[in-house]
Amino acid sequence: MRVLGIETSCDETGIAVYDSCRGIIAHNVSSQVELHNRYGGIVPELASRDHIRKVSPLLAQTLHDAGSTLGDLDGVAFTSGPGLIGALMVGASFGRSLAWALDIPAIGVHHMEAHLLAPLLDTAIPELPFVALLVSGGHTLLVHVMGIGEYRLLGQSLDDAVGEAFDKTAKLLGLGYPGGPQIAKLASNGNDQRFQFPRPMTDRPGLDFSFSGLKTAVRNVIDATSPLESTDVADIAASFERAVAETLRIKCRRALDHTGASTLVLSGGVAANTTLRKVLQSLECALLYPSIELCTDNGAMIAFAGYQRLNAGYREPLEISSKARWSLDTLGVP
Ligand code: KG4
Ligand code: ZN
Repeated sequence: MRVLGIETSCDETGIAVYDSCRGIIAHNVSSQVELHNRYGGIVPELASRDHIRKVSPLLAQTLHDAGSTLGDLDGVAFTSGPGLIGALMVGASFGRSLAWALDIPAIGVHHMEAHLLAPLLDTAIPELPFVALLVSGGHTLLVHVMGIGEYRLLGQSLDDAVGEAFDKTAKLLGLGYPGGPQIAKLASNGNDQRFQFPRPMTDRPGLDFSFSGLKTAVRNVIDATSPLESTDVADIAASFERAVAETLRIKCRRALDHTGASTLVLSGGVAANTTLRKVLQSLECALLYPSIELCTDNGAMIAFAGYQRLNAGYREPLEISSKARWSLDTLGVP
């Protein structure tokens, strides 16, 4: 079975072809970083327009790379939420219409389920149940995974998502968008012990997160230390990154103890952070994460997640619908 994956939930247009015998046979991502950089964050209307411009040529390129034609496809998967509604509508309209024209099934995929399943593109499904930590620009979720489609939310961020905290901290430091990769780069030359930032909500029970206070703590240090030398910026970046990674480690340990699971799956854009990967490696559990390029938004994870449901015979009506908000634990077993 060959499934086309289309991702347009935020600022990356991603297209991929998944083949059930060969795995991902082609995938391409067109990033909008340059487009949004000068505004210091994502401008939703510009994002939608760029998806419209890119989706068709990227499909042609991806089919060419896959040595495939439209006629070889057995299904189409597209992100139907959560995300920016205009951006989502582009992928949903394009994907649903393409499938209708080809007379093949189409399926709307939950973006965070696709992140959750992304590590399984390279590895077999781990022993169930397991715990997943999903850390992206819009979400921070701790999930108890009983099986594909069977998710119980253990905890989530009550304010900023982890990726958002990276992006906002980078902005405070005068760095460009997206902030995560820039903070990570500077942090590698910084002293992560110089500033003692809080490990929010670790001193009380529970599995929820809060990252807005950490951002305020960074702002206070910047005000007290300014004018900043380049070593100050690197030390703040490193101390911030360490505080985030340790907060996540403490909550993951708690989630593993709480559920009795022995495997942790780490995914989402922030899973590309090597300090976080290292810190989580110190947990006594099996740790799985996708390759760096499959951590951030891409079409491959959408094709793979869509394949799981299409292959199980799950079908949807022809209606084109997208959801800006969509809770992961409302999904059913395919
Ligand atoms: O999953 P993703 O590509 O998009 C969403 O679904 O939101 O995640 C994007 C987020 C951004 O906030 C970005 O700053 C962050 O992931 N990110 C990183 C790194 N690479 C991307 N954060 C920390 N370290 C990184 N290396
Ligand atoms: Zn994402």
